[in-house]
Amino acid sequence: MATGVIQSTDSEKSISAMLKSKQPYFIPRYENVSLNYISKNLESEILKPIDNTYIVLNNSREETCKILNNDIVFSDNLFAIHSLINYNQKVDLIYLDPPYNTGFDFFSKDNNHAYSDSFDLSEYIEFMRIRLILLREVLSDNGSIYVHIGHQMLPYLKVVMDEIFGISNCRNIITRKKCSSKNYTKNQFPNLNDFILFYSKNNNFIWNPQGTVPSEDWIKKEYPKIDDKGQYKLVPIHAPGIRNGETGKEWKGMLPPKGKHWQYTPEKLDEMDKNGEIYWSKTGNPRRKVYLTPDKKIPLGDYWHDFRDAHHQSIKITGYPTEKNLSMLEMIVRSSSNSDSVVLDPFCGSGTTLIAAKNEQRQFIGIDQSLNAIKHCIQRLEVAQSNIFNQARLLCDKDVYEYFSIDIESILR
Ligand SMILES: C[S@@+](CC[C@H](N)C(=O)[O-])C[C@H]1O[C@@H](n2cnc3c(N)ncnc32)[C@H](O)[C@@H]1O
Repeated sequence: MATGVIQSTDSEKSISAMLKSKQPYFIPRYENVSLNYISKNLESEILKPIDNTYIVLNNSREETCKILNNDIVFSDNLFAIHSLINYNQKVDLIYLDPPYNTGFDFFSKDNNHAYSDSFDLSEYIEFMRIRLILLREVLSDNGSIYVHIGHQMLPYLKVVMDEIFGISNCRNIITRKKCSSKNYTKNQFPNLNDFILFYSKNNNFIWNPQGTVPSEDWIKKEYPKIDDKGQYKLVPIHAPGIRNGETGKEWKGMLPPKGKHWQYTPEKLDEMDKNGEIYWSKTGNPRRKVYLTPDKKIPLGDYWHDFRDAHHQSIKITGYPTEKNLSMLEMIVRSSSNSDSVVLDPFCGSGTTLIAAKNEQRQFIGIDQSLNAIKHCIQRLEVAQSNIFNQARLLCDKDVYEYFSIDIESILR
């Protein structure tokens, strides 16, 4: 029964305890939260090595156990990722666009079955969790992983990713506009976006900031002032938080505003003022001048509206269902890898990530278990570079080859 007396909850009590002990209460504390469901395997079981053999489908039909850079692998990625771990192979960037668990089967434009996308919920979560745990082992210490997913499985995969990579390594949950308004339904909002979970392995991950070249209008609005050094904008010289050191002291007879501190020491502010880098308003308010530089880019945020999928834009595409936007993949590759990096796509479909890596002069490894996908991959990579077979190999899981050899040989003709 309600008593009308407000009892403080445990969390309120702990906040007041922290305040009393002058601990910063605004830093969230992330405990270990995990997703529970039947059929969840122990990590130690998942990591037990599995050996696998591949048939090289280029010029010979030799057997190999080692996947090399620039290989396209026709296999369930479970076995292929185990092979990468067995040889201690590392990659700097992993992008995966797995089945979204939409409940449908997907067919390519020529009506060939591409892949099925229907799992029980716990079966799906465990399918992904197993592969994500293995992928963590393949990711280099300065690597990043991007998991592209629909709204259906996003909440579950976010928790799974937090469990595996750590909540503090979650860099962004990116919303990507995948199509324009269409398929209006009467009783719900139209679904226009999908999502990308971007995690790094650690704090020191490869990061090359991306952005767009600003328009004249944007520049005029953002950098409205001009002097003999160029166009500039004004920014405060103080920041929130009280400091007891130099940056909390008086500068030119002024203390920082209440609850704030100077961003620079008084000595440095004197130097900046002498160099004309400080702007004084009529009322005596000092601000810092920030000049427009020729390489100024507008940083890309976590809402990506310019990377819609090709089949919504009537431009030439492979016909493989769910083929992703090539410019988006090139941008991800530039952001999170260097020129000596290897990019892995364990659900590579028609090979968009592999083409993006190639276009950006990176090496790649692509894995898919659909014959249809592999067919599109080799067609595309041959188009991208006619002598791909001099550089890259096509591998096929030995068991798959024994079962489907006629079909496989037919796609190579
Ligand atoms: C959404 S599609 C990827 C499309 C790709 N991003 C593109 O641009 O073409 C998902 C792919 O995952 C593949 N796939 C599903 N389960 C797999 C598994 N266990 N191992 C390897 N590939 C798998 C499917 O065959 C399908 O090609």
